Amino acid sequence: MLHHNLITPDTKMADAIHMNYLLLPVINRFEIKLGFGDKTVEEVCTENKVNLSFFLDITNTYHDKSYFPKEKMRTYPVELIIDYLLKTHRYYFDQLLPEVEAMVEELLASCPADCDNLGLIKDFYKKYKQELEYHLKNEEQKFFPYVKALTQLEGTGQSLHSIRRQYNFSYSTHSEEHDNVISKMLDLKNIIIKYLPPNYDTAKGNNLLYWLFVFEEDLKDHERLEDIILVPALKRIEEKFTKN
Ligand SMILES: [Fe+2]
Ligand SMILES: [Fe+2]
Repeated sequence: MLHHNLITPDTKMADAIHMNYLLLPVINRFEIKLGFGDKTVEEVCTENKVNLSFFLDITNTYHDKSYFPKEKMRTYPVELIIDYLLKTHRYYFDQLLPEVEAMVEELLASCPADCDNLGLIKDFYKKYKQELEYHLKNEEQKFFPYVKALTQLEGTGQSLHSIRRQYNFSYSTHSEEHDNVISKMLDLKNIIIKYLPPNYDTAKGNNLLYWLFVFEEDLKDHERLEDIILVPALKRIEEKFTKN
């Protein structure tokens, strides 16, 4: 497939943001801050000691949903990928999850009377937040350390079995959690769009929905990286040690 609108090493970093402003938090995850002047993506990456090829693949998969060079992405060191994924977790923990919670509170506060249904939205979101936080923590405690331990297994004398037991990572639970956090985000949007009686401030409702769309898009991209890049990498290493 031909991709006409991709970010390249020669693209000006400022233009990359004009092309897709949703890339702002993605770029921040590489510890790159604004104020680039006319510097190109390559120049900014070099200055910030960022792997240019990895930066381009991450920003382009985010920017263009049909661009996903999975074989190439599977060649990056897992530490690099995990570092990026962990920064994304921080963005959810520290920013999106609490900020959206505050928007839900504001929406509720803007309701003049008969606000029971809005209370349900608040409960739904509270539960969703807990579930997503649980998922992210689970990955940080089991999934990522397990992947890292496996990549370092060679020569340690440890068996796959003992590492597996130590981290107790389950593919099926992981995949169920992904389906769940994605589908509930869609449910939440739909409850507001389709069913919630609109007795609240419209601007606040739109603001909440806007951020739910942004959140969903970022989350989908995040889970896709884990499912399509990291999980197969894990399976390949496991297979290698099972054969030996
Ligand atoms: Fe994750
Ligand atoms: Fe995940």
